[in-house]
Amino acid sequence: MLTTIIYRSHLCDDVPVKALESMVAAANLKNGRADVTGILLFNGTHFFQLLEGPEENVKAIYQAICHDKRHYNVVELLCDYGPSRRFGKVGMELFDLREHDKDDVLQTILDKGTSRYQLTYHDRALQFFRTFVEATEKENYFEIPSADSWDFIPTDDARTVSLASVSSDAYCGFAFQPIIDPLTQEIVSLEALLRTRSGGSPQNYFECLSGDEIYLADLDSKKIAFALAASLGLRDQVLSVNLLPMTLVKVPDAVTVLLNAIAENGLVPEQIIVEFTEREAISEFEAFSQTVRTLKGSGISVAIDHFGAGFAGLQLLAQFQPDRIKINRDLVRDVHKSGPRQAIIQAIIKCCTSLEIAISAVGVEQPEEWMWLESAGISQFQGHLFAEPCFCGIPAVAWPEKKTAL
Ligand SMILES: Cc1cc2nc3c(=O)[nH]c(=O)nc-3n(C[C@H](O)[C@H](O)[C@H](O)COP(=O)(O)O)c2cc1C
Repeated sequence: MLTTIIYRSHLCDDVPVKALESMVAAANLKNGRADVTGILLFNGTHFFQLLEGPEENVKAIYQAICHDKRHYNVVELLCDYGPSRRFGKVGMELFDLREHDKDDVLQTILDKGTSRYQLTYHDRALQFFRTFVEATEKENYFEIPSADSWDFIPTDDARTVSLASVSSDAYCGFAFQPIIDPLTQEIVSLEALLRTRSGGSPQNYFECLSGDEIYLADLDSKKIAFALAASLGLRDQVLSVNLLPMTLVKVPDAVTVLLNAIAENGLVPEQIIVEFTEREAISEFEAFSQTVRTLKGSGISVAIDHFGAGFAGLQLLAQFQPDRIKINRDLVRDVHKSGPRQAIIQAIIKCCTSLEIAISAVGVEQPEEWMWLESAGISQFQGHLFAEPCFCGIPAVAWPEKKTAL
């Protein structure tokens, strides 16, 4: 299948522009053998390349390009399929934008096209050429440093309690994981993540339950979460707990049950965030929003968890605006390499900024993911990069520290 990949990247400072000539010559030969064609634009700082050809070959060459140390911050902008090549003749021509007149550079590039049809602006690939040449997206290029420019240094204040000390017949347990602001070194909130008594997953906890038992067990488990949090010496730390949206609808007096459990453990509603998980659609929206109003009226904040996954999407946000959203791991994964993920997250940030909704990104595992998200304007993070969930305990946090140049 004829495949097109477009990416942009940044030339490394220590690579002389002259060295590109030999690279282009070698690439031309390799592309020719692999039946891959395309064009490479360079503006003095950034590259922009379109590669076209058989899927396997285009992807193999793109992989090699991604690992090339002569450039960095390689961001895939488009991967698409089509009936014919746009730049069929050119093996891999380097086109230096600085050598062409600004006003007709785009036309000069388009004139190199070999498509049977006139190359038009309606084509997504060619629209990308336009935005690169006209530099209209340049403010969205975040030039993040390499992953090894930071050390992640764990604190030594991790602590645990035994589940039995909290409740002799506890039917579930919780692991705690912090949501942090890495640059101010502040723990924004601690999330209580449901586990079985022995530390198994929430799926294990729910699998033997059916019908409305699930909602009762969901609500009841929060009593253990609050008791564990109090026993861990939470004091005025903010605590996040998860709730299925339908628990609020299906269990009568769910809010009173929560408030009683909060008070019994010496906590206050203002320090609690209820995060709604995305696993199920909210079928009785009116009843749900009525209970959310009661929750908010009691001082508890609300968040949409896993925003961007399952039912926690734009439609839910249009219906109901929480105090915060947590961007799902699937959107965060490899965000520094993916144009589509970057565009979606930037749109979420813009939307939440307009609505004064706080944002955190979850499932952050790589330094580059964190650095890109921080550059885009997110300051609160949760993920293994900083701290893993700790069963019945508060884990150490690995705070980032910038390495100093020797
Ligand atoms: C901006 C840029 C564009 C490149 N374009 C191509 C290309 O179109 N085809 C290619 O084979 N190599 C290209 N390369 C080089 C590859 O990254 C890599 O060095 C090469 O595929 C390795 O080939 P080899 O393993 O056969 O030596 C490019 C490198 C850079 C920095």
